[in-house]
Amino acid sequence: MVSFIGIGIGIGIFSSSYKLEASNSQLLLISGGPLAVNWFNDFYKHIADSPLSHWLEVLPAQIASWQKEQQHGDFTKWIKLLSKLPEITPSSINLQNKVEFGHASDISEYAQKQVVGLLKQFMPWRKGPFHLFGIHIDTEWRSDWKWDRVQPHIQPLKNRYVLDVGCGSGYHMWRMLGEEAKMVVGADPSQLFLMQFQAMKHFNTDSRIHLLPVGVEQLPELKAFDTVFSMGVLYHRRSPIDFLYQLKNQLRKGGELVLETLVVEGNETTVLMPGERYAQMRNVWYLPSTAALTLWMQRVGFKNIRVVDVAPTSLEEQRATQWMDGQSLSDFLDPNDQSKTIEGYPAPLRAVLVAEC
Ligand SMILES: C[S@@+](CC[C@H](N)C(=O)[O-])C[C@H]1O[C@@H](n2cnc3c(N)ncnc32)[C@H](O)[C@@H]1O
Repeated sequence: MVSFIGIGIGIGIFSSSYKLEASNSQLLLISGGPLAVNWFNDFYKHIADSPLSHWLEVLPAQIASWQKEQQHGDFTKWIKLLSKLPEITPSSINLQNKVEFGHASDISEYAQKQVVGLLKQFMPWRKGPFHLFGIHIDTEWRSDWKWDRVQPHIQPLKNRYVLDVGCGSGYHMWRMLGEEAKMVVGADPSQLFLMQFQAMKHFNTDSRIHLLPVGVEQLPELKAFDTVFSMGVLYHRRSPIDFLYQLKNQLRKGGELVLETLVVEGNETTVLMPGERYAQMRNVWYLPSTAALTLWMQRVGFKNIRVVDVAPTSLEEQRATQWMDGQSLSDFLDPNDQSKTIEGYPAPLRAVLVAEC
């Protein structure tokens, strides 16, 4: 049973076990269970009258079961941290050539330090960078460089329904919004990424952008999006052909797939399956050549498939920073030969492919 315990902006909320300052969220207490958030109701409302409306047949139940059963051990701590973010409206929003909310002059020095302290508790920050009231969240990845390789080759996003499968913290979603998409939806099961996204959304409550904590395998066949992105996910999938079908099933006829993944050099018959680890990552399954990947996409039924970019990942694009102070790419490459991973495989090479449904 779910009991509603509080609503609204800046209202103090008390229950037997929690005292929280609600910010841009509503809170629910599932009796006998964990604290839950109500971030997704706004999304349900927005899609009710849209080509995505049939998602409502399954999504609310999936989210309810996620709230009940799958909360991360730090979930309550994270919600408390989010609720402490100050209520400040940024004087400007820039999503065109970076993700920037507000300037240092919008905020006191004290509040700026407070925001840094709170956001650092969501480390590691991997995907970004974000600029918030003069704070530079210098993430492990220069995700903006990936966007610069992708964006020139895709259909304009203006007025399109856009899905980003495996969206991480949502960096690229904000850039998609900057291209005037009608609605941007991210699907990613990582709860830390969801918190990082909600931290940014706290300062920009735009109702056209939503991150849902669901995996690709939970998506029904919506056949409704104008553009589907999936960047940095295919090599993590045990069954990449099924994954391509899942992506295709989200697109309307004539819609566009934008796929970015690790590849290797080679021809139609070349696919690398690494051993237990690739560049220290455990969950890497298939690295096809661009020719093999093109063939996979043809077999799945995509048309007009184009390889629009191939680029090695540089040590400047993925590196440790003050916001991600663990190991990074330089630790994952062979110290004597940076063209190889530490396991002896070809170093990371990434391709962008664009295709039509
Ligand atoms: C390498 S990151 C890529 C993030 C971002 N798209 C980018 O290009 O920078 C891979 C992402 O896939 C997400 N992921 C893992 N399993 C997934 C699943 N079953 N469905 C959707 N996303 C998944 C991870 O949580 C992670 O955010």
